[in-house]
Amino acid sequence: MNENSPVDAAAHALSPHLRMEPEELVARIQAVRDQWGPRLVILGHHYQRDEVIAMADLRGDSYRLSELAAGNEACRAIVFCGVHFMAETADILANQPKLLARRDGERVDVILPELAAGCSMADLAHIDQVETCWRQLAEVIDVEDVMPVTYVNSSAALKAFCGRRGGIVCTSANAAAVLDWAFARRRRVLFLPDQHLGRNTALAKGIRVEQMPVWDPEQPSLGGNDDASIGASRVILWRGHCSVHLAFRPEHVRDVRRRMPDVKVIVHPECMHEVVGEADLSGSTSRIIREVEAAPPGTRWAIGTELNLVNRLRQEHPEQEIHFLAPNVGVCPSMYLIDLPRLCWAVENLAAGTPVNVIRVDDRTAEGALLALKRMLEVK
Ligand code: 13P
Ligand code: SF4
Repeated sequence: MNENSPVDAAAHALSPHLRMEPEELVARIQAVRDQWGPRLVILGHHYQRDEVIAMADLRGDSYRLSELAAGNEACRAIVFCGVHFMAETADILANQPKLLARRDGERVDVILPELAAGCSMADLAHIDQVETCWRQLAEVIDVEDVMPVTYVNSSAALKAFCGRRGGIVCTSANAAAVLDWAFARRRRVLFLPDQHLGRNTALAKGIRVEQMPVWDPEQPSLGGNDDASIGASRVILWRGHCSVHLAFRPEHVRDVRRRMPDVKVIVHPECMHEVVGEADLSGSTSRIIREVEAAPPGTRWAIGTELNLVNRLRQEHPEQEIHFLAPNVGVCPSMYLIDLPRLCWAVENLAAGTPVNVIRVDDRTAEGALLALKRMLEVK
């Protein structure tokens, strides 16, 4: 081991926790929660493992977790059991100037228990590529009439890019309302970085596939499009995707319907359009949970989203019959990186006054991103 390497140093610091039994880890995390009370908030996204969710004060989808980060007066530290863009968003919202002033400048530390927990979709749109895209668009259309919309699964830099151009952030919970908001103001939308959420949402509004060119940032000119298709566009879709949700295929829907004709299929809108089109319902993780909670006993479901959430729904609703839509494994590898040893290590370092893995967005980026995030929280 090289003690000077940050990766090896982190592994070394973690190693006592990696050897502890789950009961000890739970007791130690609980001890910090008891000591800190409402000053510490552990947030958990629905895709987290069960044992991590059990230690979370609050759980939610991306929209709800953003609201929670923005609106907790007593909180002085957030440990975010989720992925990097969620922690960045929490940092921007929890430390926005208005809230900082109310706390006499005291920051809320936002901690991600494992720094490698990124989001492969967010990584598909780098700010330099998006700036190049905007410059090239300006050569063929009036960009004053293009609303940049970024899915919350994106870097803070992308959110700032949108915020400074009058644009907005959306989540899977408010994407439809955000498109209405955008079209009330401008003629076209540049939708970043998930082409599937963008396409699914726009198709539901009657926008045709031919009006939605896909911008491939690897192509040297106009994202692989010609002037005419950009000129005819209503929504320009960035070529991003979630590999977890792309594992769901239309044949999985057909297969489950063949085996169980009364099944209800519900999927996340990050799935490809062919899957969403064949499903009965689609929506954010919270919508999926709400639909299952509201269904009568004996309802049969096939659910197309991350496996930890589907397994938890199955445990929490034994009165219903819940199946995973795809035969292959569907865990989000990034979400899965957060575990009890890392959570324990993070909260104990916080309690010791040596916080680790603090996510801090620089002030200039945070200022731009906040513009787009505030708009997101106003559009439901
Ligand atoms: P939700 O906002 O629906 O929870 O989705 C977040 C996500 O990353 C889905 O892959
Ligand atoms: Fe990102 Fe997909 Fe994981 Fe969601 S499920 S955090 S979009 S990689």
